[in-house]
Amino acid sequence: MRILVINGPNINMLGVRERGIYGSETYEDLLKYVREVCVENDIEPTFFQSNHEGAIVDAIQEAYGRYDGIVINPAAYTHTSIAILDALKAVSIPAVEVHLSDIFSREPFRHVSYPGIACVKSYVGMGFEGYKRAVLFLKQYCDGSNSHFS
Ligand code: DQA
Repeated sequence: MRILVINGPNINMLGVRERGIYGSETYEDLLKYVREVCVENDIEPTFFQSNHEGAIVDAIQEAYGRYDGIVINPAAYTHTSIAILDALKAVSIPAVEVHLSDIFSREPFRHVSYPGIACVKSYVGMGFEGYKRAVLFLKQYCDGSNSHFS
């Protein structure tokens, strides 16, 4: 099973940016964590991070026919990007949305997620653990049985 893990703007600044919200671990730490989860579960991950909306749309389009699932943290584009929503709908690859922080307990402008409309599942406010759950959910989802996940 192959998955594409997409992170949006400023996720590369983890460990530096707003540590009270996002913690002190870095983007490299995140990749290591997700890679280990994937190795343990016989999943082949590819990682992509960009600060540019169009580059994320391109990455989703290029995933068509190449990946079984997408894990995506669109970061700030979560709250603005109909283009990312449309790209996810276009490729119809099962996608799971992740947010390190609990967007629903933050400012009102973070309470909407456009890409989330095209996702089969969302994990918010769990830090790195949300990515692990997303990967495991996709594995079960692609195996055709996701009934015991919450
Ligand atoms: C975020 C939440 C977004 O509101 C914010 O713009 C981010 C990160 C999260 O992972 O909690 O950059 O997606």
